[in-house]
Amino acid sequence: MSVLSASASALKRNIVAAARGQRMLNGRTLAPTVNHGSSAGLKVLAVLYKGGEAAKQEPRLLGSVENQLGIREWLEAQGHEYIVTDSKEGPDSVFQKELKDTDILITTPFHPGYLTRELIKTAPRLKLCVTAGVGSDHIDLDAAVEREIQVLEVTGSNVVSVAEHVMMSILLLVHNFVPAHEMIERGEWQVSDIARNAFDLEGKVIGTLGAGRIGRLVLERLKPFNPKELLYYDYAPLSAENAEKLGARRVEDLKEFVSQCDIITINAPLHEGTRGLVNADLLSHFKPGAWLVNTARGAICVAEDVAAALKTGQLNGYAGDVWNVQPAPRDHPWRHMKNHLGGGNGMVPHYSGTTLDAQARYAAGTKEILERYFEGKAQEPANVIVGLGKYETKSYGQR
Ligand code: NAI
Repeated sequence: MSVLSASASALKRNIVAAARGQRMLNGRTLAPTVNHGSSAGLKVLAVLYKGGEAAKQEPRLLGSVENQLGIREWLEAQGHEYIVTDSKEGPDSVFQKELKDTDILITTPFHPGYLTRELIKTAPRLKLCVTAGVGSDHIDLDAAVEREIQVLEVTGSNVVSVAEHVMMSILLLVHNFVPAHEMIERGEWQVSDIARNAFDLEGKVIGTLGAGRIGRLVLERLKPFNPKELLYYDYAPLSAENAEKLGARRVEDLKEFVSQCDIITINAPLHEGTRGLVNADLLSHFKPGAWLVNTARGAICVAEDVAAALKTGQLNGYAGDVWNVQPAPRDHPWRHMKNHLGGGNGMVPHYSGTTLDAQARYAAGTKEILERYFEGKAQEPANVIVGLGKYETKSYGQR
């Protein structure tokens, strides 16, 4: 194709896109963005986690209340008001009080400010929600669609961090690492007590529930361990190129999928199709003694059912960083659950996607989304979960 006809067809695509209310750049469709009214003097509210002493000593903890995503000066220089808080529960929380006249809400999955349908009703000025990170299930997305509130994430900002955490969790469960380390701390030394439940990754069947950005990175990292087979379950099939590159076989039936895996990793968003998906019934179809790693969202698994499966040996181990309530209460079953040998628990607080490297990326990504919004520029399509009155992604359920 000549340069002239290439640019003519790009122009034609732009015209067609414009007619559909979309914008295009170099042949890529950019998601529409509308900046309602003036872009000066907006109120921006951020709900972040308290960083305490660590955040004072470590300025790279950008996702904390103390370090405020590093955007205070920049926002204020443009005449915007910036409120940052970790107080998020109940009608007296700063979140709920300030929301009433907020224009832009920034939240993080690590300390989720739950924006329910009821709360949305209290926020008539709210036009834009930005998730500093990936995963916007803490926002009632259907209600956002109805109210034409846009919801954006910093897509891809922490997917490598999570994929690495998944690899670590799989290895520590399969190699029975945690009880071995605890034994050392207790001053004991009994190799057989650990080795009796320690295995290799090589030769195992490993599957990912969800084969999007994180799922694909996990498959890529698992391949060099020479598994017996890599499987995936996702309503969106991998491209032929990715399936071949990763050597992963799709299993379309969920029960069949779980029954074939020695190790399962969950990498799908939380939505009505995944909430409570891993319950006693599904767990009964797992291979007895399987290991399960969930860094996606806690509520995809039924907490009590997982703890019971670990106790009976249906699961040999469960690891992850996400909980159905965050911060997790002190008596949450996942804090203390164990398999019959006293191991099999690889739970940590929600931090896999908030390494310092990830924080730099999602803080910069949040700023870029705001910048585009203020300037009335189109957003990166991959970042848009809910556009103006409609879902712009297929990841949050088949709509
Ligand atoms: P993505 O949107 O690239 O991929 C999600 C995949 O899940 C898609 O391929 C989608 O088709 C699939 N999926 C959706 N519903 C499904 C279902 N019912 N069954 C099977 N597959 C289904 O998202 P990405 O970047 O891979 O992230 C996935 C999730 O991981 C996020 O939504 C978030 O909840 C979680 N996450 C956790 C972090 C952490 O710190 N623990 C950090 C980042 C993400």
